[in-house]
Amino acid sequence: MSSDLLNSSGLIPEKIPAHVAIIMDGNGRWAKKRIMNRIKGHERGAEVVRDIVRASRLLGISYLTLYAFSTENWQRPKMEINALMGILINFLKSEQKEMMDNGIRFMTIGQTHRLPENVQNTIYETINLTRDNQGMVLNLALSYGARDELVMAIKNICSDINNKQLNIDSISLETISAYLYTKDMPDPDIVIRTSGEQRISNFLLWQIAYAELFFTNTLWPDFTKDEFIEILKNYQKRERRFGAVLEN
Ligand code: IPE
Ligand code: IPE
Ligand code: MG
Repeated sequence: MSSDLLNSSGLIPEKIPAHVAIIMDGNGRWAKKRIMNRIKGHERGAEVVRDIVRASRLLGISYLTLYAFSTENWQRPKMEINALMGILINFLKSEQKEMMDNGIRFMTIGQTHRLPENVQNTIYETINLTRDNQGMVLNLALSYGARDELVMAIKNICSDINNKQLNIDSISLETISAYLYTKDMPDPDIVIRTSGEQRISNFLLWQIAYAELFFTNTLWPDFTKDEFIEILKNYQKRERRFGAVLEN
């Protein structure tokens, strides 16, 4: 059953991407422009996350991956890191009911073990609570770095070869995918980055080999579901060739 949002969006329901990944950037600059503390930008950014999660669910997107904290972000001042962790806990606690009401399953990718214990507890609580939901996967990248993910995958592959669980000759593209954090997810069809930066910043390097990339100057706290729908419309106009020649 399609939602009112999908019906009024002008999007083609059959061409809704299965997996949308977003690099949510520009919270600090949003706050700076208003002579506010960077933390205010992160708080506002969390509100936008709520809107985009809701819209994604209504549009029929199956997987939404949001880059919330990178392995490199540990270099930020401790005060900012602590504030981000607090915002994350509040977000999860306040969204648990909405996730249950809307069939959203919560997952994370990244080095969960590096997060503070209270954050880990809330994450596991939310994962367990929502594990049978079938509507959409909300996947947060937390202490995530694609290079770190590849190091982890290679170590695990080597160790499985050592203990004879894996045969070198059988290693394929699918094997590599199966050793990544995203093992149970399709590759993203589209990556959106806000704030005008045109870089990937160590996000899903393996998985975005054929994703369509979109960069917008909008700072994340100003991002709206209307702009999201515009980007999805542009995505639907693109011809994805995957290296082949399309007959027409
Ligand atoms: C994105 O906003 C949020 C995180 C990386 C945690 P930034 O905090 O990077 O904002 P800018 O890029 O400094 O404006
Ligand atoms: C990328 O944004 C990481 C997240 C959005 C979580 P950054 O602001 O950390 O990236 P750089 O430093 O501009 O590359
Ligand atoms: Mg940034």
